[in-house]
Amino acid sequence: MSEVSGTSFTLGTAFRPGTVDADAVHAMVSVLDAQDAAPSIERLRAWALAGADVRRGDTCVDIGSGTGTMTRRLARLAGPDARVLGIEPNAMLRRVAEERCASHGVEVEFCQGLATELPLPDESVDVVWCERVLQHVPDAQAAVVEIARVLRPGGRALLLDSDHASRVESDIDPVVGRAMLDAFMSQIANPTAARHLPRQAMTAGLHVDPDVGSSALVYPQDVLMGSHMSRLAADQAVTDGTITPAQAEETLRTQSAAADAGWAFSAITVFGFVCRKD
Ligand SMILES: C[S@@+](CC[C@H](N)C(=O)[O-])C[C@H]1O[C@@H](n2cnc3c(N)ncnc32)[C@H](O)[C@@H]1O
Repeated sequence: MSEVSGTSFTLGTAFRPGTVDADAVHAMVSVLDAQDAAPSIERLRAWALAGADVRRGDTCVDIGSGTGTMTRRLARLAGPDARVLGIEPNAMLRRVAEERCASHGVEVEFCQGLATELPLPDESVDVVWCERVLQHVPDAQAAVVEIARVLRPGGRALLLDSDHASRVESDIDPVVGRAMLDAFMSQIANPTAARHLPRQAMTAGLHVDPDVGSSALVYPQDVLMGSHMSRLAADQAVTDGTITPAQAEETLRTQSAAADAGWAFSAITVFGFVCRKD
């Protein structure tokens, strides 16, 4: 995530289907790779994979598959005779995923598609994986209805998403931190995605397991040092008129110094829901 320094990577373009500028794609891949490496993300994924109970031959779909990390894992679990499909609207991320699958010798398909318009027949999928995607989807309810439509009876949907309002930060003045968080969240389509998922899943006719997974995505110190995401949030808050340029500079300096000293703490919570179709 420390490589997130391309000028074309902005809060408004991050993880949008049409963001194909090379610097922005490089930055997105760096963010996803850093998150893949985060032990807290792995704990939540391991919990969700247990709930997914992928069986040999299961048809699996990874919606918003990004660099394809989870598509590959689903393919290994479902075995060589299974159909495993990554659906990813961003053409450049799709290409990265295809290249990485080829280099790992894993055979999966990737295709263009949106969570709200899945290119799949009714009741054709055993396992849907949809991780940290619906935060970028304005009509998440429509996406969850689509997920319920394509699941077979007995199918499982693993819905993992962030709730950015759960952010905790050390070493930032709370009033300035609130303004930066509001500015950050204003640029994300569905920033409190996670908290709405139980209602959306049940409205779509799915059952939600009572055990909800959660994990704090804690940003490493090197990411926080001179963090581009903090810079973008601070700049947006200045543009919104909620903090002054001087407050922005002071906050970024303080956060960077805390990270330099090794005690900065910045985290958001990612929640996981196991949803089942009768
Ligand atoms: C934060 S990334 C997560 C990628 C991957 N699921 C992971 O957990 O590593 C969000 C992904 O959602 C994709 N995305 C954005 N809008 C989407 C939409 N409307 N339908 C499907 N995917 C979408 C982005 O292109 C990106 O790959």
